[in-house]
Amino acid sequence: MWRITYCHVMMNMLYLPIRMILFEVSVGFTHPETEADCHFLATTCSDCFKPTKNKASVFTRMAVVKALDKISDAKFLSSVADSIPLFLSLSVCLSVCLSLGRYNKFSRELPQTPWVIDGERRMEGSVEELIADPLLSSFRADGFNFSSSGREDVDVRTLGNGRPFAMELLNPHRAKFNGAEVRQLQEVINASSDKIRVRDLQIVTRDAMGRMKEGEEEKTKSYSALIWTKKAITNSDLDFIANIKELKIDQKTPLRVLHRRPLAVRQRVIHSMSASYLDTHHFRLQLHTQAGTYIKEFVHGDFGRTKPNLCALMESEVDILELDVEDSVYVPLPTTLDDL
Ligand SMILES: *[C@@H]1O[C@H](CO)[C@@H](O)[C@H](O)[C@H]1NC(C)=O
Ligand SMILES: *[C@@H]1O[C@H](CO)[C@@H](O)[C@H](O)[C@H]1NC(C)=O
Repeated sequence: MWRITYCHVMMNMLYLPIRMILFEVSVGFTHPETEADCHFLATTCSDCFKPTKNKASVFTRMAVVKALDKISDAKFLSSVADSIPLFLSLSVCLSVCLSLGRYNKFSRELPQTPWVIDGERRMEGSVEELIADPLLSSFRADGFNFSSSGREDVDVRTLGNGRPFAMELLNPHRAKFNGAEVRQLQEVINASSDKIRVRDLQIVTRDAMGRMKEGEEEKTKSYSALIWTKKAITNSDLDFIANIKELKIDQKTPLRVLHRRPLAVRQRVIHSMSASYLDTHHFRLQLHTQAGTYIKEFVHGDFGRTKPNLCALMESEVDILELDVEDSVYVPLPTTLDDL
């Protein structure tokens, strides 16, 4: 064990993970004075150290472990410097670290996750990547897994207090961040782009993830939409809309998502609406609805697949030109690792 540790030292800051069922303990050592000492291993086992194009050094962890198997204790001891590595850090982490937060999206040209059709990227960037990049480098993680409480379309902005998300960081080499460091992480994400912002960022345990998904359906959401009508808008149209309360609608799975969602009819409730006049053919519609309502389809009707719809209610051709999520599902934030 010690030998393995020692060679990690020579590789300058590698980590020795001790896996338990839930926790991973990483012990970091560094010992720059003896870094070059690793080279003697190459004479013991030249086959063990082969250059590969994606590795900076031939002294990878696997190669060192392999070479150590081939060298005797006596030879090992006589070849290495007799000094003790400097103990650097000890961190305890779930073998997957989770960070939670909420995001705002201010762009109508940014998908939530990379938009790839037939292996070809259709749009630059994504919410997921903008949040993940700074986290990956701070946690020194191998990868990530992003999930969120619902999602918005590419052309929909998410305003208000933001949409809850979880970012699983796979095999992180760092997991402990104090409050100031988490705030700084958030600042880095905020500053990296003007298309998104993150708030309430925190590092949590795995069961918090379940809580984010819990009760999603019972929640309500607020939206703001820019509506076009074929007919000229009158005051009585605006009053008519404002008087609609607790309207039950049936929504067949929208045509635009049918390729990834099963065909079903879902009942949703429009709790309330209000409309403010912009010009003869445009008004702004505020909606307060059950979470999971397909707003675009409620407005244009999706070829009669959503009933009733705003077209039918207003007895005019209407269309939705812009949509913003004003307030997302509210989820109480879970405890942080610091509270454990
Ligand atoms: C990512 O998350 C999904 C859903 O929670 C899960 O099924 C999958 O195994 C995760 N992937 C990794 C690499 O952890
Ligand atoms: C990041 O942006 C959000 C949304 O504007 C703001 O609430 C939060 O305070 C910002 N955080 C930092 C650390 O800059």
